[in-house]
Amino acid sequence: MTAKEFITHTSEETIAMGREIASKLQPPVLVLLKGDLGSGKTTLTKGIISGLGAAKEEEVTSPTFNLVHEFRKQILPGDLPERERNSQPCKVYHVDLYRIENFHDLESLGLEDALSEKAIVIIEWPEHFTLRTDWPIVEIRLHHAGGDSRRIAVSDLHL
Ligand SMILES: Nc1ncnc2c1ncn2[C@@H]1O[C@H](COP(=O)(O)OP(=O)(O)OP(=O)(O)O)[C@@H](O)[C@H]1O
Ligand SMILES: [Mg+2]
Repeated sequence: MTAKEFITHTSEETIAMGREIASKLQPPVLVLLKGDLGSGKTTLTKGIISGLGAAKEEEVTSPTFNLVHEFRKQILPGDLPERERNSQPCKVYHVDLYRIENFHDLESLGLEDALSEKAIVIIEWPEHFTLRTDWPIVEIRLHHAGGDSRRIAVSDLHL
């Protein structure tokens, strides 16, 4: 799999990158965010979900307790023409599998529902459980690169 690498130097730059990624996402798609604690997965998701027009940046928080946050991408009356091809409404899920320890935990999240209709599903800590799906997958790896810098490798997206 080919991956494209980017360096960001601030959380704002990571959010801006999330917005850029959002403009390329079409449902159904699974976005897997891999990287250490504090590497910026939730920060990038703020950019993706706000870029999709599904919520404001500040409304996107870590799904630490609920484990699944659900948003809805709507068609905005003022949507720009270039966004039209990417403007069908769909659900957007932000999932954190960090605390998932077994299949029972995973089942209790109701992810099958999320995967039963075309949606954009963003998953932090996807390596904690294998999800079976035939949806296209975008894999994003985030690495600490000293101080506030992060190295972000994105697979399968033509950025
Ligand atoms: N370049 C950067 N990109 C992203 N976050 C940055 C950057 N520089 C500093 N930060 C800070 O690093 C932290 C990243 O936290 P964030 O919650 O996004 O990480 P995470 O990967 O989701 O962690 P966790 O595994 O705990 O869920 C935030 O406090 C953010 O402000
Ligand atoms: Mg997080």
